[in-house]
Amino acid sequence: MTFASSSSRYEAMPYVRCGRSGLKLPGISLGLWQNFGDVNSYATGREVVLRAFDLGITHFDLANNYGPPPGSAERNFGRMLREDLRAYRDELVVSTKAGYVMWPGPYGDWGSRKSLLNSLDQSLERLGLEAVDIFYSHRFDPETPLEETMGALDTAVRSGKALYAGISNYPAEQTRRAAAILKQLGTPCLIHQARYNLLDRWIEEGLTDVIAEEGVGCIVFQPLAQGQLTARYLQGIPADSRATREWFLKTAQIHQNLPKVRALNAIAERRGQSLAEMALAWVLRQPVVTSALIGASSTAQLEQNLKALNRLEFAPEELARIEEALSAQ
Ligand SMILES: NC(=O)c1ccc[n+]([C@@H]2O[C@H](COP(=O)([O-])OP(=O)(O)OC[C@H]3O[C@@H](n4cnc5c(N)ncnc54)[C@H](OP(=O)(O)O)[C@@H]3O)[C@@H](O)[C@H]2O)c1
Repeated sequence: MTFASSSSRYEAMPYVRCGRSGLKLPGISLGLWQNFGDVNSYATGREVVLRAFDLGITHFDLANNYGPPPGSAERNFGRMLREDLRAYRDELVVSTKAGYVMWPGPYGDWGSRKSLLNSLDQSLERLGLEAVDIFYSHRFDPETPLEETMGALDTAVRSGKALYAGISNYPAEQTRRAAAILKQLGTPCLIHQARYNLLDRWIEEGLTDVIAEEGVGCIVFQPLAQGQLTARYLQGIPADSRATREWFLKTAQIHQNLPKVRALNAIAERRGQSLAEMALAWVLRQPVVTSALIGASSTAQLEQNLKALNRLEFAPEELARIEEALSAQ
């Protein structure tokens, strides 16, 4: 049956200006890194994406290598675009990236002009699009001149294959240089995509200052620390959870963080929120943060996470209690 989106889809979601650009992003965005590959159920992934759009999530984040297998998340999302979301294409912000290993040999990885622009062509083919909205350099490449990597992003925009350029995982100093080069080229850096959550606060040590000074937007990924900042692992490791795959999320890491997570969960309960909701509200309290980029393996998770938007403010005592919880061993 043809998908028709809810007419109330723009009623609850806040849309936040991305840095000093003209583009607004939803307060919560959905990423397709895991749960949307060929190893996953297409029907469930489709249900999550369509529900997300119905709830006001206009931004969907991909990369060349998302799956597994690599490329399959773009192909599956391309099918949803074709079969369900075609009429809504201009209501969507679709991003993709290149910079991690994608194909064999010296050109399928890192940040050369060759790698980025060939990868973008491949992504467009898998997605069935003529252009993505945001094209990212997925990581800083210390062996390629930054001018070359940024030049490739500029070309992507000028050739009409991307509307905006972004960078991801760049340290503070390289972010400043990248933003300066892009400005000079006339293609301003729209956005920085960086990991940020209660258990990983590296961006507070310099990057947030650079982002604010340069007027770049900031979308933070893994705000739930891959599920650790939810109730998912409070009673052990569920059989259907990401941790059982021991891929990027290790059970040892979960056990190590559990005392902090339990202490945070108690604070969330006192706030009348789930831990996931509090963790999302906490990243969104950062003034530079435009959007929190979540993953979800079900519509129930997605719906719970969106409730974070109902209670974003923190009292100073709550923030102090959180700092205390984070020092728990
Ligand atoms: N730029 C980069 O280098 C980079 C790197 C990584 C990710 N990203 C982006 O960030 C996006 C999000 O990453 P992520 O999926 O790791 O983020 P995350 O939101 O921290 O973790 C998502 C996982 O947490 C669990 N979860 C979510 N909501 C839950 C809830 N309410 N209750 C219980 N469990 C819940 C689910 O785990 P289960 O699957 O176990 O149910 C879900 O798959 C990616 O899709 C990608 O777009 C970017």
